[in-house]
Amino acid sequence: MQSYIELMEFTKSLINWYLQNKRELPWRATNDPYLVWLSEIMLQQTRVAQGLAYFLKFKETFPTVHDLANAEEDLVLKMWQGLGYYSRARNLHQTAKQISNELNGQFPKSYKELLKLKGVGDYTASAIASICFNQPEAVVDGNVFRVLARYFGIKTPTNTTKGKKEFKELAQSLLAINQPGIYNQAIMDFGAMQCKPQNPDCTMCPLSNSCVALQKKIVKELPIKEKKQKIKNRYFHYLYIVTKDKKTILQQRQQKGIWQGLYQFPLVELSSKDDQNIINHDDFKKWVPERSKIMLINSEPIIHKLSHQHLYTHFWKISVDTHLKANVAINQLNKYAVPVLIANFIEDIAAL
Ligand code: ADE
Repeated sequence: MQSYIELMEFTKSLINWYLQNKRELPWRATNDPYLVWLSEIMLQQTRVAQGLAYFLKFKETFPTVHDLANAEEDLVLKMWQGLGYYSRARNLHQTAKQISNELNGQFPKSYKELLKLKGVGDYTASAIASICFNQPEAVVDGNVFRVLARYFGIKTPTNTTKGKKEFKELAQSLLAINQPGIYNQAIMDFGAMQCKPQNPDCTMCPLSNSCVALQKKIVKELPIKEKKQKIKNRYFHYLYIVTKDKKTILQQRQQKGIWQGLYQFPLVELSSKDDQNIINHDDFKKWVPERSKIMLINSEPIIHKLSHQHLYTHFWKISVDTHLKANVAINQLNKYAVPVLIANFIEDIAAL
């Protein structure tokens, strides 16, 4: 780990670089938390070049937080059009109303209070607290991850809990306590302009002498992101088979993977949501005797989300006279360990 002096060198060089190279941006000409907040929320959606036009349009149409608060939601959404992620625009509008109506138009001044506002997370709260109120709160965004990972040669993936904590603590320890807003904007600008994601010109870098990634020739590899496992969609159809003497069928899941050892109704898994042909599926035919009464209980799938799988689930009620495999009295169903998805269904049918 670097010494305190080395850490301070990093901070000093960064601020020197910033004072000579910073971008002149309209939200930098002010400490007005309303304008800083607007710009920071927008810049989470887009790059500075595109964000600038949106910022100017918003500032002109809604010069104060009260103007934004009193606007029609449709107009706010319209002005946001093209930035995507519309819940951000709705949160923006709601927060403006809260600040205008409940806080007398005044933004909170501390990180902790700012964090309570809708749509304001760690990044935005730190940015506003430091830039507008000189609070010693370090920001961590994509630029900060990249600069720190490279300069200090950190291989911890940035999109993990451990990585977020490690980078936040490091950023905090590097903060220029007496000019936190300048420091935060310096490291973000440095990441955007000098320590760029692709092809940074390290020969021109004021930090090249002590950059670990440059020394180890791993600039290109850093920062590291852990590959998120892709979400798999699965299409489950459970057969709730009911005999005349009020029995049904439960099976224990043997296979490894989700819910091993738990009980479930006979399951037919289809390969896509468009597969309409369950009745001809071999697994379906295996369980459903001819002349059964078949009823689809939920036409809209119940979507059950697991960490790496989304289960689109339908339940079918199959009424039969008798069934060779019927093994559980319906009034005993609640005695079995079943996945929550099935427990909810059992609760629903018990209520009928
Ligand atoms: N990206 C988002 N906010 C920024 C800021 N205030 N300065 C530089 N880059 C940014």
